[in-house]
Formats: sequence, structure tokens, C-alpha cells
Amino acid sequence: MDRAAFRVFAPGRVNLIGDHVDYVGGLVLPMAVDLGTTIDVMPAAAGRAGVVGLRSDSESDPAEILLPVRDPGSHPIEWARYPAAVLAEMGTTAGFSGEIVSTLPIGAGLSSSASLEVATALAVGFRGDTLPLAQLCQRAEHRATGVPSGIMDQLAITSGVEGSALLIDCRDHSVEPVPLPRGTVVHAVHCGVSRRLEGSEYADRRRSCELAEQTLGPLRDATNSELGAISNPMIRRRARHVISEISRVSAAVEATRRDDAAEFGNLMNRSHVSLRDDFEVSIPELDQLVDQLQRTPGVFGARLTGAGFGGCVVVLADDSVDPGAIGGWRLKPSAGARVVVAG
Ligand code: GLA
Repeated sequence: MDRAAFRVFAPGRVNLIGDHVDYVGGLVLPMAVDLGTTIDVMPAAAGRAGVVGLRSDSESDPAEILLPVRDPGSHPIEWARYPAAVLAEMGTTAGFSGEIVSTLPIGAGLSSSASLEVATALAVGFRGDTLPLAQLCQRAEHRATGVPSGIMDQLAITSGVEGSALLIDCRDHSVEPVPLPRGTVVHAVHCGVSRRLEGSEYADRRRSCELAEQTLGPLRDATNSELGAISNPMIRRRARHVISEISRVSAAVEATRRDDAAEFGNLMNRSHVSLRDDFEVSIPELDQLVDQLQRTPGVFGARLTGAGFGGCVVVLADDSVDPGAIGGWRLKPSAGARVVVAG
């Protein structure tokens, strides 16, 4: 039986602090944002019961995905690999058509791909809890790209809370809403370079963390004083980033509880230095933009956000500052993925 038409929405996310720690079970502080992916879902046209047909306003080529999907990573249209991987994970056999409208910049580090995955799962009919939805989409991301990404993006997108950032413990997957310091706003500003080399570099960084854990045990529980046990200086620096970044996330949550925007901003600035020097995932364009934004009046802190190697800088600023002085997108902490118009 054909389903009636319905509409789903999945936000993007920006990470305020806590990068490259989710895949070791660390703490992260992202927020779902008011930009995202909408899909209008319509029944399959006559004779097309075994096909998912998708059009997107941000892509020139429409995509046809034949069901059942076995190898989503080989779909000839690159953007279609994300929805195809969700269809593969869900074992979808009933076709439909979807019109996609995205307000997220693509490849900017605001999780446009995870947003598309989660919206697709809702379009197919997933109606379970936020964690299984996020885990399904994380598996889909791995199948679509081969990149061994963590759970942060998908879990932030499924669990968003209006007006709050989210403290996510990536070990037990608990999610706690954390309001931003009073009187502050968040911007994301693009450095002009799309993320590059992310796949291989990301897997390489993850591997370095695994090597560090062979010596120290779980990095989530390790302390700075143990770092001397790692003989390879590069692996030691990677581990130092992870250990210090997790403690900065805890400190940032404490700072928000005191409405201490200045301290929150300092922690963001120190996070950037650690990602640049110890984890080595920045690029000169990001460093220059961070430097310029940190010197802009009314800015408390600025750092690269997400995987690095391009994309956006996230900024915490005084809400009385002229948005034009900072630029980019002014982002509101928003609710998570949802069915907007039921069928
Ligand atoms: C990407 C991944 C996330 C996370 C960030 C870095 O966005 O998808 O899982 O690892 O990089 O914090």
C-alpha cells in the first residue's frame, strides 16, 4: 500500500569543543543547529516500486537508487552514497521519491552528510530512539565513505535540544543539555577551503590513538603524567591532545554553569592550539581565520570545528556584537531530527 506524502527534517551540527575524542569514548560538546536537510517524501510513481528517486536543490544530478542496495559506496553519484548506505542498513525494498532541500553548506564541517543520512532514515520510516537512529546512520557513513568516524555527529543531530548545547559522553552515550553562557551566540565561519584529505588523515589519527592506547589503556582514563610511557614523540603528542581536550570539555561545561563566557572562550582557543600543534589537523587558512576572529572585539573564543583540514571555524561571541563583524552563519541551538508533517 502506498504511503501518504510526509516531510522530515534533520539539522546539521556544530561542535563547540571536544574534537577528535569521540572515537576514544571521550566527552564532546556539540549542538544541533537551525540549518539542515528537509526531505519531502512521496509514494513511488507507478512501475517504480523498487527504486528510490532523489532530487536535491544543492546537487545538479538527481539520483536513482535501485533496491535492495548491496554496495552503497559504489553508487556512481557521490552524494547518493549516503542515502544509499542508509537504505542498505535498513534493508529497504519499497521505493519512494524524495525532494531534498538543504540549507547546510556542503563539506564545511557542519555535518551535511550526517544530516542527510538521518533525514533519509526518517524518510524510510525509522521511528525508534535517538541512539539507535544515530548508530544506524554512523554505520551507514562507514559504508558510504570508508571513513571510521565516531558517533558525535549523528548523535548530536538526533538528540538536539532547542536552546542548548549537548554534553555527550561517547563512552556510555548519555546526552545532557547544557545551555550556552548567558548573552553569547555561536557563529560558524568558513575558511574558504573545503575539507580535504579527510578520509585517509582521519583514519591515520584514529590509528595513532589506538597505538597510544596499547601503552596507556583507554585514553579517556589516562592522565598527562602517564604520557612519558609512550616512546614515539608523534604518538605522544596525539595522546596529549586527546587527554587535554577531554579535560577542556569538562572545564567548558563548568564555565557555562558559571556563565563564564571568557573562560569558555579561552578553552576554545587552547583547543585550537592543541588541534593545530599536537593533533595536526589544521591548515594555514584555518589558523589565519582563527587568529583574525580571536582578535575581533566581542569574540570570546574561536577554533576549528569537526575533523579539520578545511571547513569552518566555530566562534563564541557576545550577542550584542554586529553579526556582520564576525560573518559566516549565526547558529541557534536547535531541536533534533524529526517528522515535520506526518503522512
Ligand atoms: C568528524 C567525525 C566525528 C568526529 C569529528 C572530530 O566530524 O564524523 O565523529 O570524530 O570529525 O571531532
